[in-house]
Amino acid sequence: MNRTGIMGALSEEVELFVSILADKSVHHFSGITFFSGILASQPVVVVQSGAGKVNAAMSAQLLISHFGVERIIFTGVAGALDPELNPLDVVIGSDSVQHDMDAVHLGFALGQVPFTEYRFFSGSTALRGLAIAAAQKKGLSFREGRILTGDQFIQSPEKSAQLRTLFEGVCVDMESAAVAQVCHLNHVPHLIIRSISDRADSSAHVDFAQFVRAASRNSFALVHELLRELILPPVHSLKSSVRTVPHWPRTGIMFRDITTLLKDRSAFNAAMDLLVARYAGQGIDAVAGIEARGFIVGAVLAHRLGVGFVPVRKKGKLPAETVFEEYALEYGTDRVEIHTDAVSEGMRVLVADDLLATGGTASAACRLVSRLGEWYWSVRS
Ligand code: ADE
Repeated sequence: MNRTGIMGALSEEVELFVSILADKSVHHFSGITFFSGILASQPVVVVQSGAGKVNAAMSAQLLISHFGVERIIFTGVAGALDPELNPLDVVIGSDSVQHDMDAVHLGFALGQVPFTEYRFFSGSTALRGLAIAAAQKKGLSFREGRILTGDQFIQSPEKSAQLRTLFEGVCVDMESAAVAQVCHLNHVPHLIIRSISDRADSSAHVDFAQFVRAASRNSFALVHELLRELILPPVHSLKSSVRTVPHWPRTGIMFRDITTLLKDRSAFNAAMDLLVARYAGQGIDAVAGIEARGFIVGAVLAHRLGVGFVPVRKKGKLPAETVFEEYALEYGTDRVEIHTDAVSEGMRVLVADDLLATGGTASAACRLVSRLGEWYWSVRS
């Protein structure tokens, strides 16, 4: 599953994401609440980690180990170190470092994780590129730069200046580099987006309270726009995974064989990701799969959408009371049947098959479903 993890430390930093999450499920682990669902047609898991490096590291590891996210975006606010940054400006993290990691007396550089070579953790180049494009599109005032992280709320001009000089950082927070280290160790790409809430000076606590919500809105706007640009696999790249068998089962028929796509783990996953992204959040109550290959696609889709599966079968296969519809094949006629109690009035049913030839079978299945409940048919070539 091509899922994105979205993290923020505080409720203000994640509440806008949670409020627009479609197909939302709530999960609790180790005292942390996770929200999975669909955002901008993307499967995501949103977490409010809590403040500080330990909370951030735990949440990031759970996103990776338990939810299997393929990238993590940390979004929220930060204190400015660069005097040219103003409240509400956005920083796209080029890299991050733990400014309070200090084993200098053991011979390690300031910020270096002792007994490792880790010091600066780079954000994903691809995600940074998408973030720059998203910031431009949204008209946000932004810059790229290094983010410094420590378990301290910085509110002294002297300390800010010192940190800036020591690490050449542009802003300071309490989580980013911890998330970055976890991502690095797990080979998961990450991106840090921060919007400025204060200047890490003597009025930082006042400014923070005043700007945390508005700054969080800017981070949200950028990340939301970026999610739209996260590329799902193009449909045309999947077409090459479908084999064409000429003159099967009869002369003149070009048989499109999806077994070559099904056996290819990444092609099958990518095809299902596309379908889930298309239909999630559309209030579908059940998926009806057409025998036989529609069972494969339909059952996986139903499971991924979290709804029930209804088989549409060939003549005489279903044990209880049925209704049927006839249809013309490319090569003959046949009928499909469905249990009369499979679909009820008002249900929104998605009819799934592997691929369309004349569309005759799918059309008959839709007629069947519509006789039993609300007709819902979405076919795109
Ligand atoms: N997050 C926002 N402002 C901060 C500051 N001044 N110090 C540390 N983390 C912050």
